[in-house]
Amino acid sequence: MENFIVYNPTCVFFGKNVIQGMQKTVSPLGNKALLIYGKGSVKSNGIYDAVVKQLNDCGITIAEYSGIKANPIIDDARKAAEKGKESQADFIVAVGGGSVIDTAKLVSVCIKEPLDPWDVMKSKIKPRTNIPVIAVLTLAATGTEMNPYAVLQNHETKEKIGFGMNLMYPKYSFLDPQYTYSVPKDQTAYGIVDLIAHTLEAYFAYGDASLSDRFAESIIKEAIEIAPLLLANPENYHYRSRVMWAATCALNGSTSYGRATSGDWGVHDIGHTLSMLYDFPHGATLSVAYPAWLKLQKEKIKDRISLLGKNVFGVNNANETISEIEKFFASLNCPVSLKELGLNDSHKTEIFELLSKNKITGYHHKLEEEDYKRIVELMFGV
Ligand code: NZQ
Ligand code: ZN
Repeated sequence: MENFIVYNPTCVFFGKNVIQGMQKTVSPLGNKALLIYGKGSVKSNGIYDAVVKQLNDCGITIAEYSGIKANPIIDDARKAAEKGKESQADFIVAVGGGSVIDTAKLVSVCIKEPLDPWDVMKSKIKPRTNIPVIAVLTLAATGTEMNPYAVLQNHETKEKIGFGMNLMYPKYSFLDPQYTYSVPKDQTAYGIVDLIAHTLEAYFAYGDASLSDRFAESIIKEAIEIAPLLLANPENYHYRSRVMWAATCALNGSTSYGRATSGDWGVHDIGHTLSMLYDFPHGATLSVAYPAWLKLQKEKIKDRISLLGKNVFGVNNANETISEIEKFFASLNCPVSLKELGLNDSHKTEIFELLSKNKITGYHHKLEEEDYKRIVELMFGV
């Protein structure tokens, strides 16, 4: 096992109606909040009203920044940071999925000091202070509610990248599975793919960490068991809660302790390239890229893929494992080929060029020009 540090300061409130305890929790943080949310789902499903009531009831003044898009952009982080400075926000309340919470986490380290959020993302400058983030999660997928990462894109530089630091852990996260009842079927399925992809990224990092392997395998089994039930019963509390907690555990450190890094992350970087180019939802890029990457790496990490297959699917070799993963993603109606996302041969060159320009690679399984060519073909099912 590799040496490791366990540090996770996020306090998670999980369960039915946990939002009702919010005012007591946030009151000591100050009396001015910056409320950040997305394109409007929180208004139509009533979550916005519930959060605003909590803040109003304890006399907290609210400044708002809304309109965060899926695959969030750096311009919104810049504007939200300005709003936070102008309103002298004491803390941020982020209500939404990964895109909203990631934006809020980045903004939280760019308010007390006048830092450009993209300079922070590119590690050109290291923030020393923050204001607390309170996350109210509305979509089970990314694990951002209990980790220090944010993933944003910049259309000028043509990059979608991740960044993390300890100051960016949410201080409090409110996870009410009922808040995910209104998530549409496709986004629910993408969330399940995403949480599985996070456990796989950890699983394919180097390091002998058998307990972390078993956590990872259990999280994948949990997701596979619950997915069809949830998609058939989107307002079932029990199913929503199981997926929500699985998604949190898939990227809160539990699957990585004892490994050399938190994960390989090569597949995520390929997925980010596809979102950068075509604005595809994050989970949809992963259901295409993961099977393709596994096919690319099949010879190199045959034993590892086979072990996963044996423990999760009860199959005997790498080919069968990859086929099970692909079949599972397809059973959720998630794309497993770029053709299903509407792309054709004419798109291959630009995908290859952006992979190459941004030097996309994993931490452990290095990708080079030849791999880019092959993986583009594999993502088209060739
Ligand atoms: O904008 P609104 O109207 O809120 O609609 C959102 C959005 O259209 C909608 N939605 C969210 N909650 C809902 C809902 N619709 C109905 N009812 C609800 N309760 O869902 C759509 C997608 O939202 P988004 O926040 O983009 O989804 P997700 O949570 O999957 O986040 C994806 C983003 O997180 C990044 C991804 O790259 C992507 O940009 N990731 C962040 C990670 C992290 N911070 O650790 C790790 C991940 O690997 C990932 O990279
Ligand atoms: Zn992800």
